[in-house]
Amino acid sequence: MQKTIAVIRGDGIGPEIVDQALLVLDRIAALYGHEFTYLDVDMGGCAIDKWGDPLPPAMLETCLASHSVLLGAVGGPKWNHVPGPMRPEKGLLRLRAGMEVYSNNRPAKIWPQLACASPLKPEIVDKGIDFLIVRELTGGIYFGRHETVTENGQQVALDELRYSEEEIRRIGRIGFETARKRSRKLCSVEKSNVLDSSRLWKKVMHQLAEEYPDVTLTDMLVDNCAMQIVKDPSQFDVIVTENMFGDILSDEASMITGSIGMIPSSSLGDTTRGLYEPIHGSAPDIAGKDVANPIGTILAAAMMLRYSFDMPREADAIESAVSAVLSQGCRTADILPPQTAGCTLVGCREMGRLILDNLKKG
Ligand code: IPM
Ligand code: MG
Repeated sequence: MQKTIAVIRGDGIGPEIVDQALLVLDRIAALYGHEFTYLDVDMGGCAIDKWGDPLPPAMLETCLASHSVLLGAVGGPKWNHVPGPMRPEKGLLRLRAGMEVYSNNRPAKIWPQLACASPLKPEIVDKGIDFLIVRELTGGIYFGRHETVTENGQQVALDELRYSEEEIRRIGRIGFETARKRSRKLCSVEKSNVLDSSRLWKKVMHQLAEEYPDVTLTDMLVDNCAMQIVKDPSQFDVIVTENMFGDILSDEASMITGSIGMIPSSSLGDTTRGLYEPIHGSAPDIAGKDVANPIGTILAAAMMLRYSFDMPREADAIESAVSAVLSQGCRTADILPPQTAGCTLVGCREMGRLILDNLKKG
């Protein structure tokens, strides 16, 4: 198959982790007889430096003309002084909105080899951690009005949080459909004891539940959910939540699985064209040092093959290679356990090379 992939290396560790993922995709293409064409796209801080815009319109066009987009990470302290609408992160938000990828899928699954890297007690980890956060990605407070004004001599800042029924309904459906493919348990997370937008969220979820009688819907307040994720993560299967709650809960969920460096994500809308990225940021403190973990990005590339290109065998091959390397005891710094016996510390490039070595046609 021929596929065109828009590639956004971005800032910080973005370029080094994306390079490893591309080597993996090249090997998949060679093994399975596919042709992947990469189109470079500038987004984030590097695009501000080069073009004065975190996502120039032509770059968005390239993404929209591709079969899918692979992204490393954007942002960094260099651009902290830049005004809100021109920040590197704004490029990412415009990309998500421009691609209309309203459904962000973030798995929190513990790799057995990394169980000891989890900060949770073994008795909690042993009950199993394998759930999915379905995060609404193109609405809510991220996309409301943002404003800082001066009132009575002091600055006042406003961030608007709004959701329409339709925005809630379409992500709710993804939540129910996803739960149907798993253990038919869906937990809707909101803050309906305080927020109007959450009360509407809850109401729409319960209307939808009538269409999905085979799925058990529960509601949970977001503060309680944050607590339950560390107390008993085994209770969750699919969580569906709004944009900002999903941002926060997915970082928490990743941490209990060992490292945020391991978690990929897919963002999809109504077409097969998706945006695939690790959920971690650009980690400027370790950029260019060859110590970053490329696995989140490599697994994001595997998700692209599975969900956008209908290449499940190829995706399985990548995931098996990652698993084999972990079983061999190879670890980047973020997943190196305190007791390092039996483990070898490797850098970003070496981790990529080891995954290539273990990549076999299934
Ligand atoms: C994420 C990131 C982004 C977000 C930032 C970089 C805008 O934290 O993908 O989780 O908040 O969505
Ligand atoms: Mg985040």
